[in-house]
Amino acid sequence: MALLKLNSLYTTFLVIFTTSFTTLPLSSSSSEVELLLGKIKPTLQGKTENLLLSSWNTTVPLCQWQGLKWVFSNNTPLTCTDLSSPQWANLSLYEDPSVHLYSIQLPSAGLAGTLPRELGELSTLRSLYLSVNSLFGNIPLELGYSSSLSEVDFGNNLLNGSLPTSIWNLCDRLISLRLHGNFLTGSLPEPALPNATCKNLQFLDFGHNAFSGNIPEFITRFHGLKELDFGSNMLSGSVPIGIAELSLEKLNLSHNNFSGVLPNFGGSSKFGVEVFEGNSPGLCGPPLRGCNGKSGLSSGAIAGIVICLMTGVVVLASLLIGYMQGKRRKNGDEEDEEELEEGEEDVETGDGEGKLVLFQGGEHLTLEDVLNATGQVTEKTSYGTVYKAKLADGGTIALRLLREGSCKDRSSCLPMIRQLGRVRHENLIPLRAFYQGKRGEKLLIYDYLPNRSLYDLLHESRAGKPVLNWARRHKIALGIARGLAYLHTGLETPITHGNVRSRNVLVDEFFVARLTEFGLDKIMIPAVADDLVALAKLDGCKAPELQKMKKCNSRTDVYAFGILLLEILLGKKPGKNGRSNDYVDLPSVVKVAVLEETTMEVFDVEVLKGIRSPMEDGLVQALKLAMGCCAPVASIRPTMDEVVKQLEENRPRNRSALYSPAETRSEIGTPF
Ligand SMILES: *[C@@H]1O[C@H](CO)[C@@H](O)[C@H](O)[C@H]1NC(C)=O
Ligand SMILES: *[C@@H]1O[C@H](CO)[C@@H](O)[C@H](O)[C@H]1NC(C)=O
Ligand SMILES: *[C@@H]1O[C@H](CO)[C@@H](O)[C@H](O)[C@H]1NC(C)=O
Ligand SMILES: *[C@@H]1O[C@H](CO)[C@@H](O)[C@H](O)[C@H]1NC(C)=O
Ligand SMILES: *[C@@H]1O[C@H](CO)[C@@H](O)[C@H](O)[C@H]1NC(C)=O
Ligand SMILES: *[C@@H]1O[C@H](CO)[C@@H](O)[C@H](O)[C@H]1NC(C)=O
Repeated sequence: MALLKLNSLYTTFLVIFTTSFTTLPLSSSSSEVELLLGKIKPTLQGKTENLLLSSWNTTVPLCQWQGLKWVFSNNTPLTCTDLSSPQWANLSLYEDPSVHLYSIQLPSAGLAGTLPRELGELSTLRSLYLSVNSLFGNIPLELGYSSSLSEVDFGNNLLNGSLPTSIWNLCDRLISLRLHGNFLTGSLPEPALPNATCKNLQFLDFGHNAFSGNIPEFITRFHGLKELDFGSNMLSGSVPIGIAELSLEKLNLSHNNFSGVLPNFGGSSKFGVEVFEGNSPGLCGPPLRGCNGKSGLSSGAIAGIVICLMTGVVVLASLLIGYMQGKRRKNGDEEDEEELEEGEEDVETGDGEGKLVLFQGGEHLTLEDVLNATGQVTEKTSYGTVYKAKLADGGTIALRLLREGSCKDRSSCLPMIRQLGRVRHENLIPLRAFYQGKRGEKLLIYDYLPNRSLYDLLHESRAGKPVLNWARRHKIALGIARGLAYLHTGLETPITHGNVRSRNVLVDEFFVARLTEFGLDKIMIPAVADDLVALAKLDGCKAPELQKMKKCNSRTDVYAFGILLLEILLGKKPGKNGRSNDYVDLPSVVKVAVLEETTMEVFDVEVLKGIRSPMEDGLVQALKLAMGCCAPVASIRPTMDEVVKQLEENRPRNRSALYSPAETRSEIGTPF
């Protein structure tokens, strides 16, 4: 985070420096030096002598005063690079009336005092960066008397009290005002001029304070705003419609007590749920649940489960009817029986009617068990439906009922199913049994894991979900990579997963990832399998060369894994998002960021938490690896074995977060 901020500060700093120097008021540097030494230094440093500020001393050349930048009246900066320059020795510079202070940059400087009101007297001061210190007390109202201040960053200090109204005196010059992470209270003050537009203001960050009251209307007149952060305050009321009319690139209204209908932010994917999460349950409208209780996300989901629960029961009952009818007809299928007996690990039961083929770990299942289970739909896809089913003995299994025509006949299906039934790996969900009814119904029976899908963990906002820091995401990514590598190279006959995506990854409370749905493409008729390709395209994880499912191979899996890794790193959904038609191509997002030199900003904020060096923590390497997997030319993509190796070599240094008591995103709700 600190890195990000410094980076963007640096760019805005350059912009000001090169473009917006206007006339400087005439004032001698000697009075500025007096203010710095007499008032500002002692107040900023507090009770203890500060190492950086000790350089502010008339016995030290002006150029060596830490954290200060000077400029001559003719706008040329005082360059302090040339050691032979007389400026280094010329002490009379302090009295030079053409030298002025224009910037104080002391982020993370160990300042432990208060903000001196004399800061407002530095008439030429344009930027004031004092973030990540221990400054406490109020923001002095005199700050607003400053005649040049345009960039202010007091982020991550201990400031309290309310924001003085005078701050808006700076309105016309102000480019950024960052107060993130303090203890500021009260409501946001109204500017004295009713029509203030603060036309240069681009960054307004009031996040993580204790501001209360409403979002004032005047903010909606700040048309130049690009980033607006009110996250984690105690603001309430409705979100003004005008906020949606600003051309914001970043917005954070999460964790307040906003209510009412959200204004329409255009394409529903412009801002995700995370921007609005943690507010009053009364806050509604896209991307949150719909208003008036209709077609809402959460209420809809509940209704869905209820309806599906009923369908689940119906479907299982109809299977049972099929089974009974078969029984009455009593048509043995000799040819299939012979084939079944070839299996080594599997056992068949079922009177030669419906067939239940059992694999290792599924030996306890009986046909009656499976058919009498009461089911509840957990997932519906184009090729089948998954039920969570309770067995009579109290156990729970996951049943996947394959869509009709999924595979032509038993003889073509069984060899592949048997192969799938033999796969056992920590990161792959085991297939325990397979049932085929007389009418062609096919059920795949897996262990039921009460875990969340990675998709859900990454994109659904719900109280009690664990924070996904980099250590945890790395573990998840490595688990997925190992599972895929095993399918590709760890088996006698390699298996292509064919459907790698975050919805097909379950993550347990120790962040162990388990892949499901592998190899299913092989037991589907081409038309159904090709639906998967279409779906993968829509979800942005289809390798460019993949046109037909029967052409899928380990390299197309690697591509899909690359997209999945980007999804993990960026926290963004790939492909078509929401109801809008926006299509998110994650590799392009990264390419653009790299070109614009904002690479660090592509990472999900949660990923960067606690990361000191993205290089040493393997974050940058993971991004490169993901991009390599997404190479448009299949032959240059790494193999899954190489991917596993690289992820193992570039681990996050601090992995203690993996083992700390599950840190969750909110106090309420059940811990994960
Ligand atoms: C400046 O430095 C000298 C010696 O380096 C020290 O004696 C003096 O107290 C310092 N003055 C201030 C104002 O810090
Ligand atoms: C010191 O700086 C002043 C003003 O910039 C200049 O007039 C004077 O000649 C300089 N003295 C030396 C010794 O460089
Ligand atoms: C601000 O904090 C200081 C101590 O750091 C305390 O004395 C003061 O009362 C606080 N002011 C407000 C308005 O909370
Ligand atoms: C401020 O805007 C209102 C309408 O929005 C207008 O009537 C008024 O004259 C404006 N005042 C100034 C000082 O521009
Ligand atoms: C919004 O702000 C809160 C508090 O500062 C932070 O925890 C959260 O990650 C931010 N969300 C987004 C989407 O930036
Ligand atoms: C949030 O706002 C609602 C009114 O919309 C109010 O009843 C509730 O007390 C507020 N909650 C908090 C924690 O301020």
